[in-house]
Amino acid sequence: MSYTLLFALLLYSIQISVAKLLPIAESNNNAKHTFANTLLRIYKETPYETIFVLENAGKSCLATNVLESSLKIPLIRATDAAAGEQLRTRFNSNLLTIVCLSQAQMELKLLKMLAASLQYRHQTRIVLHFAEMKPTSALLATTRDFFELNYMTNVIGFYNSTHYYRYSPFPSGNWKLESANTTRFYTPLHQLNLHGKIFNTLPDQILPRSMVYVDASGQQRLSGHVGYLMSTFASKYNLTLKFVHPVTPGNIIHLTVLFDYVNNGTIDLAISLTTASFNPTRVYPLLSYPLEIIEWFVALPCSIPLEYAEIYTIVVTTQVIALLTLLTLLFSALDGIIKYLFHKRNENFSLFNILMNENMFRGVFGLSVLIKRRTVVSSKILYIFLFLLGIFINNMYSAYFQTLFTSPPLQKEILSFDDMRRRNLKLMFDRSEVQLVREALGSQFNETFRNILVLADTATVQSHRSLYDTSYAYTMPESLWAIFSAQQETFERKIYCLAPTLKFFGLLMMGIPVAENSFLLEPLNKMIMRATETGLLLHWQAMTFIDLVATGRFSLKVTGNVVEFHDISLKDIEFPFHLLLIGLCLSSVVFIVEVSAFKLKIFHTKRVLK
Ligand SMILES: *[C@@H]1O[C@H](CO)[C@@H](O)[C@H](O)[C@H]1NC(C)=O
Ligand SMILES: *[C@@H]1O[C@H](CO)[C@@H](O)[C@H](O)[C@H]1NC(C)=O
Ligand SMILES: *[C@@H]1O[C@H](CO)[C@@H](O)[C@H](O)[C@H]1NC(C)=O
Ligand SMILES: *[C@@H]1O[C@H](CO)[C@@H](O)[C@H](O)[C@H]1NC(C)=O
Ligand SMILES: *[C@@H]1O[C@H](CO)[C@@H](O)[C@H](O)[C@H]1NC(C)=O
Repeated sequence: MSYTLLFALLLYSIQISVAKLLPIAESNNNAKHTFANTLLRIYKETPYETIFVLENAGKSCLATNVLESSLKIPLIRATDAAAGEQLRTRFNSNLLTIVCLSQAQMELKLLKMLAASLQYRHQTRIVLHFAEMKPTSALLATTRDFFELNYMTNVIGFYNSTHYYRYSPFPSGNWKLESANTTRFYTPLHQLNLHGKIFNTLPDQILPRSMVYVDASGQQRLSGHVGYLMSTFASKYNLTLKFVHPVTPGNIIHLTVLFDYVNNGTIDLAISLTTASFNPTRVYPLLSYPLEIIEWFVALPCSIPLEYAEIYTIVVTTQVIALLTLLTLLFSALDGIIKYLFHKRNENFSLFNILMNENMFRGVFGLSVLIKRRTVVSSKILYIFLFLLGIFINNMYSAYFQTLFTSPPLQKEILSFDDMRRRNLKLMFDRSEVQLVREALGSQFNETFRNILVLADTATVQSHRSLYDTSYAYTMPESLWAIFSAQQETFERKIYCLAPTLKFFGLLMMGIPVAENSFLLEPLNKMIMRATETGLLLHWQAMTFIDLVATGRFSLKVTGNVVEFHDISLKDIEFPFHLLLIGLCLSSVVFIVEVSAFKLKIFHTKRVLK
């Protein structure tokens, strides 16, 4: 705690002290003072906040008194005796490292300590202090190999007051003697030209991030927005990307596999995006800045129009039947009452006639009705209203019916995994991804995905999804959805729809996996920021879509056959057909009952007459 406080206080005074104390250091001819002077010059180029000194016990190369009096900066000293200790990441952020080598024996031990201390920060500025003599070529060769292996790029070697060695890492490491007073910058902060250095990589070929295709001239090309970013990055920084083994177009490698390759050093960086945050406990520090911040949805087959046979269930509901029955009963009752009162027709006023008055029933439906030639005014008014009602019901009902037949409504949307279970729709899931979701959801996983999941390998999932196989639902990252929705714009009707309520994850930060300590990380981060803020990323996404269409990977037509005319089928008139059957059965039964009753009555009358 106190250290941080001191640090903050001291930082404040640095600005004044540097300028003031520089001449004092210059005037001193002592070798240690010259070295301190060089360190001051480096400070003036780009300030550092901590100095880390590695030395053999008892053999310091640094005039700490000079340095301390001029640069009040925290100094951390470590000797070869304290091997195995690591600097906290906090001190790694803006550091100058000094290694005091002695000419007598080549201490790789110190350099190894250095590599271990600078975890994830091997591009920190490093000053090697060779002993008083000019370094031998063997020493230079050993150190060069070490730096190359450990991705250390920002190294100078100091040995006398007028000259120093500069290490150039690209395309392959070598030392160059430089004169101190012609040097403007000891250490470049940014590497801008990697001189064609070769980096191993592999594309995941997962759309829309990367895609490999063969162009008209037989050349393999890289597309996809991460692919475009990488090609641009390679040409801008003059580096060479090499596939670590030959890549077959369309051969998908899942991002988790590529991630392992990067992790174990098989490749330097992956042409792919991955996330650090599926599960907050699994943090991977070696990702570039996020290139996409996405959500992960489920894409379902869109609701399709209802079957014609199902339309009756919308039109003939219980309420409609109840209302029509009620109206029929009302008019029958009124008609019965009028006839009974004014025409003395007793038989019209039976309960049976009110319940089943087919004349009024026709009236309610707007069909022709049998009426008495001369009747009372109230009866006339009743009929007028019956006809008005009939006209409304008849016209509205048929209009409604016809509309539903010409443009049938859609099926009910699926909004939850329960709906999917009910509809028996399965979710096709990538075997390599399911573990991530399982980890993230924990104990909820089994319950949420009960009876829904169909696991398949990456290639199968990708091909079913891109061929619009609507027998399954699929997982759909937001970035890929852009491609699908662009394609569906050209379709007659959409095939996949997103269910916004069915979301696995929100705000996934997707970055490019880069090998540990790789010096590509910093330039790549800069490139990502530029590409994002200038809108290049959107341009590359559009280009990817064009490439997909141009190479025939995506077509702008629906592959399935579109029904242009719907023949009426037996299934479509299922409902009226059933109605007819029921009617026939019912009337047959009633007929038999009536015939028997009639016969019984005649038999009875005959018996009575006898
Ligand atoms: C420093 O080394 C260089 C190269 O070996 C030599 O030319 C130069 O004279 C030396 N300077 C001093 C001050 O010894
Ligand atoms: C370096 O500086 C010294 C004195 O300041 C000067 O004499 C010498 O010519 C300079 N060397 C170069 C290579 O510029
Ligand atoms: C890129 O690197 C190659 C190989 O070192 C070099 O020949 C070429 O000049 C470099 N290109 C640029 C633009 O610096
Ligand atoms: C790196 O990991 C991949 C996949 O896990 C494996 O196939 C490969 O052999 C590993 N390579 C090394 C050098 O460990
Ligand atoms: C979920 O199901 C798998 C296999 O069916 C089982 O191995 C696992 O223990 C279950 N997990 C939980 C949390 O119930």
